[in-house]
Amino acid sequence: MPQLENEHLMHVNQIEPTSEYQKNHPSSPILKNFEEYKTLYNESIENPTEFYGRIARKELDWIKDFDVTKYPLTGFNTSWFLNGEINASYNCVDRHAFKNPDKPAIVYEADEPGEGRIVTYGELLAEVSQLAQVLTELGVKKGDTVAVYLPMIPEAIATILAIVRIGAVHSVVFAGFSSGSLRDRINDADSRVVITTDESKRGGKSIETKKIVDEALKECPNVRNVIVVKRTGNKSVPFIEGRDVWYHEELPKYKTYTPPVPVNSEDTLFLLYTSGSTGKPKGIQHTTAGYLLNALLTTKYTFDVNQQDVFFTAGDIGWITGHTYVVYGPLAVGATTVVFEGTPAYPNFSRYWEIVDKYKVTQFYVAPTALRLLKRAGDHFIEKYDLSSLRVLGSVGEPIAAEVWEWYYEKIGRGRCTIQDTYWQTENGSHLIAPLAGITPMKPGSASLPFFGINPAIVDPVSGQELKGNNVEGVLCIKASWPSMTRSIWKDYSRYLDTYFNPYPGYFFTGDGGARDSDGFYWVLGRVDDVVNVSGHRLSTAEIEAAILENPNVAENAVVGFADELTGQAVAAFVSLKRKDLSEDQISLAKKELTQTVRKEIGPFAAPKLVLIVDDLPKTRSGKIMRRILRKVLAHEEDQLGDISTLSNPEAVTQIISSVQATR
Ligand code: WTA
Repeated sequence: MPQLENEHLMHVNQIEPTSEYQKNHPSSPILKNFEEYKTLYNESIENPTEFYGRIARKELDWIKDFDVTKYPLTGFNTSWFLNGEINASYNCVDRHAFKNPDKPAIVYEADEPGEGRIVTYGELLAEVSQLAQVLTELGVKKGDTVAVYLPMIPEAIATILAIVRIGAVHSVVFAGFSSGSLRDRINDADSRVVITTDESKRGGKSIETKKIVDEALKECPNVRNVIVVKRTGNKSVPFIEGRDVWYHEELPKYKTYTPPVPVNSEDTLFLLYTSGSTGKPKGIQHTTAGYLLNALLTTKYTFDVNQQDVFFTAGDIGWITGHTYVVYGPLAVGATTVVFEGTPAYPNFSRYWEIVDKYKVTQFYVAPTALRLLKRAGDHFIEKYDLSSLRVLGSVGEPIAAEVWEWYYEKIGRGRCTIQDTYWQTENGSHLIAPLAGITPMKPGSASLPFFGINPAIVDPVSGQELKGNNVEGVLCIKASWPSMTRSIWKDYSRYLDTYFNPYPGYFFTGDGGARDSDGFYWVLGRVDDVVNVSGHRLSTAEIEAAILENPNVAENAVVGFADELTGQAVAAFVSLKRKDLSEDQISLAKKELTQTVRKEIGPFAAPKLVLIVDDLPKTRSGKIMRRILRKVLAHEEDQLGDISTLSNPEAVTQIISSVQATR
């Protein structure tokens, strides 16, 4: 048996979900036992058409039944539930509103504790219907793209659902992105209408959201209208007559019900931009029925969400986690979703637990970066809250270290809750590998076993051969398509093939390293490409490098990720300036400016934690920058650089080692 590089990780005991979980369940768990998971999983792999056909008819309301499913691996060749007609907003709102109009759909907890409100399914249906008509009046038609630049407020959910109600496509841009990033995403998707807010509130601070939009729109010639939600009511917020309209003034002009527009199963539901290994962000394209079905199923099965549950995903709607597990999943199930505008640290580190206590949250889902912060803040922030409503705790976006997993299990779950370490990506739409609550044995640090219909493969990175059996390590791939798999990159199908299918023919390539341990459990070992993960935010080093190059003083630069206790990874930028004769003061000014450049070009969350000004970057004889060397030096592995004498400038390495050491 080959020696696994990461074997040390995998020697942990399985923790069986307690029988208490099943016994004390308020209704009844969705699956009876692990055996049932295995039976259903096997069917989902051996006979996906039958498995998914049956479940899709049972779980979703169709306007017209589908008649065929083709599931070859790649994008446009795949079609799930073809010729079916459906509407996602109907499935997330109407069908629950008709049965139970007074049931809370959204619990909105504003940035300031004590502010916020509840939106029932009945109210949500009215708001979605009215906004759908506003959009139609503004000329938005089926298939058009609408940009959404909104913070975590209930109007964000109404907006997403109103867009899909008329068969249009939403392109949500995380409200932490700068005007430049927003501009590029609006233009790439050709969005003609933008929905935003006057200002946003986060962590006690106001953010000038509308001003950022106005700045972006200076270079978006095709945008006709901006719908503005009044969040703070600050009178000094600019308003452009003829182009801008107020959300609260337009909606009441329309009827509180408008029928949903039928779309084909394979029609695009949304675009969501994400970072890849090359500079330009990619518009990941998801289709309606397949995405919606997997959002619903994973919410229901991974997290054991029933209609009476209150599901709190502490992620932003600007990322895929918010799309799937704040909006589509919980609402398709008919549960109550918590929309939290603030941060875990405001006004203090108790905020999440206060929300759990206040709304009797049953499932809580967050990225490990927040857990690390809260663990470090101290357990006295947890103790006075009643967390007994919690049944399931989720983790997403980055690996969760065993000690953080155990803290989560003991201190938050108090040994009663199950932990779902969910592995997936923007491109997958929903969980790929995740334990099912109360069913799958848990191993701290492992995402465990695949979801229904997901057929993972560990592939040898060099030969491209699948590594069969257990105790194998390589790159993580998927062997067959699944309903919520991305079908394309917007307007760039060849990049889609090059990124996901051409690296290992016959497989969908995730970009992550992975291993299968002796029990057949999967371990995600981090990205093998130039993507860094800062606080669960996915960033491309190439995109940050391009931003830094915008600064006129920069000759060359290289960006790499390095380990950070709190944020998982952090960004380091090695920069050589055009002028080499700068004083200390000028250098420190240049560093500040470079950080500012990244904040302005991409957004504050991408700002480098470390900027090192160097004379030269290590390069091969053909001029390629050796980022591997930079990564090793940052990881204190300067003794493992290998042979650097073949570089064109080995002396650059010596300077880099001493400037990194000087920062320690
Ligand atoms: C990483 C977020 C380890 C992984 C949903 C992936 C994880 C990237 C996990 C996708 C996990 C996500 N354990 N790593 N449970 N979940 N990742 O598109 O590197 O923002 O490729 O989707 O996050 O990030 P994205």
